Amino acid sequence: MMIEQKVAVVTGAARGIGHGVALQLAKDGCAIAIFDILEPKKAEKNIKELKKEGQPIFYFQGDLAQSKDRCNFCKRVMKEYGRIDILVNNAGVAPRIRMDILETTEESFDFVMNINLKGTFFLTQAIANIMVRQVVEDSDFEPKIINISSLSSYASTPARGEYCISKAGISMITKLFADRLSEYSINVYEIRPGIIYTDMTKVVKDKYNKLIGEGLTPIKRWGYPQDIAQAVSVFCSGKLNFSTGEVVNVDGGFHLRRL
Ligand SMILES: NC(=O)c1ccc[n+]([C@@H]2O[C@H](COP(=O)([O-])OP(=O)(O)OC[C@H]3O[C@@H](n4cnc5c(N)ncnc54)[C@H](O)[C@@H]3O)[C@@H](O)[C@H]2O)c1
Repeated sequence: MMIEQKVAVVTGAARGIGHGVALQLAKDGCAIAIFDILEPKKAEKNIKELKKEGQPIFYFQGDLAQSKDRCNFCKRVMKEYGRIDILVNNAGVAPRIRMDILETTEESFDFVMNINLKGTFFLTQAIANIMVRQVVEDSDFEPKIINISSLSSYASTPARGEYCISKAGISMITKLFADRLSEYSINVYEIRPGIIYTDMTKVVKDKYNKLIGEGLTPIKRWGYPQDIAQAVSVFCSGKLNFSTGEVVNVDGGFHLRRL
């Protein structure tokens, strides 16, 4: 059985940027499949908001770092919907404790890398194979993969080196899959968020309020999940179909070098 509308997989969509992305893609008419480690009860409010859009919503609780969970997730989505058109690799974690690169531990390194980089790589591999099969069977499919990296893929923060390394790795995942999947018309894009107001950053709210006020970003405001969600929506629209491996900074201009 294959449902009629496009199916979007969004990792880490229980809250934050992922929730914003799922909401936007549901507004765009997609059925949504969420892969998140959070138990659904804790995401109840957001799931309810999402369901209001009237599209089918499938929530799977699992750990992106676990091969078994990734595999079960893919099987369940295919059983539920019979197709995958969009993959948004959004789930990611910061180190549990910020530690300088001269002190950080292998445990912290593995925690961040196993989720952000290894988990994302192998989920992408699994879903890319599903997408390739779909395209081979029906050339009308035009799947898209969108990776949510970070300004940390190029900006150094020695107090969370493992996070920066994982995000730099995501940028290479974008290039590798864009290259490999181009023959199947599966386009791969990357969004580099700047400072976005979510649970991840609200712990450092005061610090960033001050920095933004002082001009850290040319556009003097926080970003919001909706800012990222709209960029995802544009990539999924098909209006950029002759572009792949493309990166968009959604960061209020943070990446500009200024004098
Ligand atoms: N908030 C920012 O300023 C900012 C900036 C740049 C990049 N990002 C990136 O955007 C993405 C989303 O960030 P956010 O701010 O919404 O964070 P968040 O912590 O609010 O949300 C992350 C989501 O991922 C889920 N998750 C965590 N570990 C998981 C695992 N092992 N398996 C499955 N799901 C898991 C969480 O449960 C949560 O729902 C992350 O990849 C983050 O690195 C965020």
